[in-house]
Amino acid sequence: MNIAVLSDIHGNHVAFESCLEFLEKKEIDAFILLGDYVGEFPHTEITMDLIYELKKRYPCYIIRGNKEEYQLGGLGNDNLNWNEYPSTIGMIRYAARHTREKDLAFFASLPITMRVELPDMPPLRICHGSPRKVKEDIRPGCEINKEMFAEIEEKYILSGHTHRVTNMEEHGKIVWNPGSVGVALDGSSKAQFMILHGVAGKWEPDFFAVAYDTDKVIQEMKDENLYELAPCWTKVSESLLKGGSVSHGHVLFRAMELCYEEIGRCNWPEVPEKYWQQACREMLGE
Ligand SMILES: [Fe+2]
Repeated sequence: MNIAVLSDIHGNHVAFESCLEFLEKKEIDAFILLGDYVGEFPHTEITMDLIYELKKRYPCYIIRGNKEEYQLGGLGNDNLNWNEYPSTIGMIRYAARHTREKDLAFFASLPITMRVELPDMPPLRICHGSPRKVKEDIRPGCEINKEMFAEIEEKYILSGHTHRVTNMEEHGKIVWNPGSVGVALDGSSKAQFMILHGVAGKWEPDFFAVAYDTDKVIQEMKDENLYELAPCWTKVSESLLKGGSVSHGHVLFRAMELCYEEIGRCNWPEVPEKYWQQACREMLGE
């Protein structure tokens, strides 16, 4: 039994298509998708339609990520007060404009965690961040893991959200994170995912990273005006596509730090562009 596990596509349909092409040649029995289908990249509709097609062809176990929660919460709906914060809110607004009614209904139908039971195999607990919070990271060696894992019945946990390929065993649990399809943070600019092989009642993980046409994604970002809609955010996306490893979160954190240092407060999403620009110059060299 082979289960394909993909997470954090973030709207990168080119990366997603390359994963699906690769998996087409494997004997895949089911798909597990761990959330964050929309996000940084153009033509969100293509990613969503690929997921709907996948559902018709395979058993699929699908949960919701924080990016879907933003859209369900209406975060991307026009809020004129936020017009001066395009690097913070621009991509969320773009995704909102490209999220259709049927996508919202689909997001609303998704659970944030699920127990996956397959014949003669140990059950899997799947989640985006952690089983209790969509945005909680599971990282190796964290103090919080002991308490978090104690609440989970299953031995095997699949999680995403950190965009870091993870294979860890702690406090009696085995945790696998396939990395990110659309936004790899390891400097590889490849699409990451995994196949879980069910062999004689045991799960064996197999991690993959495939190259894809990153130039095509950058061209689509230009064509869709993302460099104007979300200037610094899109520069970080481009840098990652070109093999960088500085994440959006790190640049945002630095921009907020600079804002706080200068004016004594900084409340997301109200992060002025000048701090974004300074953070980008420091961290991306531009
Ligand atoms: Fe996430």
